[in-house]
Amino acid sequence: MHYRRMPIEIESPEEFGYDKVLYNLSESSVTDLNMRDLSLSIGDLDLSYIPHRGHTEFRAALAHEAGLQHPDQVLITNGAAGALFIINSALLTADDHLIVVRPNYATNIEVPRAIGCGISFIDLKFEDKWRLDPQKIAEAIRPNTRLISITTPHNPTGMVMTLAEIDAVIALAERHNVFLLVDETYRDAGFTTPYPAVASRSKCVISVGSLSKAYGLPGLRTGWLMTQHTTLMETFLAAKEMIYISNSALDEAVAWQFYQQKEQFLPAIQQKSMQNLDILRNWLEKESRLEAILPEGGVVCFLRVQPGFQVDMERFYHLLTQEYKTMVGPGHWFEMPDTYMRIGFGFTSAEVFEKGLECIGQALQHVQHGWHR
Ligand SMILES: Cc1ncc(COP(=O)(O)O)c(C=O)c1O
Repeated sequence: MHYRRMPIEIESPEEFGYDKVLYNLSESSVTDLNMRDLSLSIGDLDLSYIPHRGHTEFRAALAHEAGLQHPDQVLITNGAAGALFIINSALLTADDHLIVVRPNYATNIEVPRAIGCGISFIDLKFEDKWRLDPQKIAEAIRPNTRLISITTPHNPTGMVMTLAEIDAVIALAERHNVFLLVDETYRDAGFTTPYPAVASRSKCVISVGSLSKAYGLPGLRTGWLMTQHTTLMETFLAAKEMIYISNSALDEAVAWQFYQQKEQFLPAIQQKSMQNLDILRNWLEKESRLEAILPEGGVVCFLRVQPGFQVDMERFYHLLTQEYKTMVGPGHWFEMPDTYMRIGFGFTSAEVFEKGLECIGQALQHVQHGWHR
């Protein structure tokens, strides 16, 4: 493995310092919850190792919601990031070939890169409304292709694949005897009732999910992977046991207790995201220097500077963070030009969100005309 730090992690707000950011539009999750928001009873928790797959009740509930038959088709992991590491490292070697969507959450690309496998990228385009064309995947398949990796709802664009598109990719994977990783971390942050987890549709699919994004619990580091493939699940369990044996007893207890209450949190979370999305839509209508394909799910939108508008993006981002105390996700976090930027609309209050958008406009003005507040 050849590890190197990813720009999205080096420059993340938690590494930069939350106290230096007033308008945090860089987050890809809803507002973080606090222990006091939850009704927990963990006072007498045993701090022992816990079942390596995760507690059966928790896995049974996740399996049921996903449309799967058995708790053993679910493995609790250290966040979705932990699941992605287990899957990629268990399936790929330097001799294998991967097909992966780009832009993407960086780990989906960087873990395979660290392994050194062959990679074909399926580059999503603004001009195609960020839609994934299954035909492009078909054209990229090679004799040594082992894994196809897609993300829906997609980060950073908010594109959501239709079931027909997903089924077309599943058919390809089945025909070529290839595994299909579907990163569904944003599934519960969809705008409409999501379809069952994609792992329920075929034995060749591995679904990944998490409590981080849709519920604002990234600090719990609790996610999961799901597959109907028994021997593959055994390999994933072996990988988990080698890396960290089991999840933390404390994290998993909080996660399971939260999971049983989650429905009561969702309406307020979704209302806030939808309100901010409306603010974003209205702002974009007036902001002629920027354009976007509005998201269909999740809590992020990938804007771009209008191709005709010339601006020094390095200076823009510098001013935006240093002077305007506003943070967004610049394009290079996603291997895209910095004229693209990701805006998270689920994290802040409407007031902070509006102010952050205003600061983006002011920073653009500032770079363009040397204008100063
Ligand atoms: C698509 C996607 N997958 C996985 C993750 C990792 O999430 P977690 O906090 O559950 O590890 C992220 C985080 O941004 C993400 O956007």
